[in-house]
Amino acid sequence: MAELSGELSFGPVLKQELAAVAALEEAAFPPPVYPVFFFRQAYDLWPQLFWVARRGDEILAYLICGPELSNRQRLSLMSFAVDPKTQGQGIGKALLQAFMQQLPEIAPDVSQLWLTADPDNAAALRLYQQHGFVQTAEEPDYYGSGYRRLVLTAQTGGKNC
Ligand SMILES: CC(C)(COP(=O)(O)OP(=O)(O)OC[C@H]1O[C@@H](n2cnc3c(N)ncnc32)[C@H](O)[C@@H]1OP(=O)(O)O)[C@@H](O)C(=O)NCCC(=O)NCCS
Repeated sequence: MAELSGELSFGPVLKQELAAVAALEEAAFPPPVYPVFFFRQAYDLWPQLFWVARRGDEILAYLICGPELSNRQRLSLMSFAVDPKTQGQGIGKALLQAFMQQLPEIAPDVSQLWLTADPDNAAALRLYQQHGFVQTAEEPDYYGSGYRRLVLTAQTGGKNC
């Protein structure tokens, strides 16, 4: 595991960082993963909701949220990953915390953040729990037959709520 040294910073992704995010995605998840064109589309559509953790010019983690047009108070945390070389060093927690703290400024109407997670992903579930997420549903075939996912929701207390 790589040592965590140097200053971390958090904020919206830059266009020139999208290839590094796609490489991180491939390293962090088994296939199928989001392709680089998805990251470009997310960058075009929701630039303020697509954040990375950086150290120097290295991308160590990313998260993407997507708005719900039918309910402006809800935001979906669509994807979240830390580079496997630096997992377990507090980077995921720090990125999620930084994003959630900034959320009332980014999306003042949003009062709920929701996501789905693999029930066997203990690290992710603990991290989400620490940030106020609770299980609100479970779908046995969320992405197809036998692809079970838990739905987790957190109240975020938006600025205009
Ligand atoms: C899940 C993930 C985002 C966590 O990020 P991370 O930087 O590794 O986690 P952190 O070091 O910030 O740890 C945050 C918390 O997560 C939990 N955690 C982290 N690693 C863990 C592990 N191996 N086992 C159990 N809990 C763990 C702990 O609660 C930890 O907080 P604590 O140390 O105060 O107890 C990261 O491991 C990852 O990218 N995994 C692969 C992709 C993925 O599963 N993404 C989530 C999809 S829903």
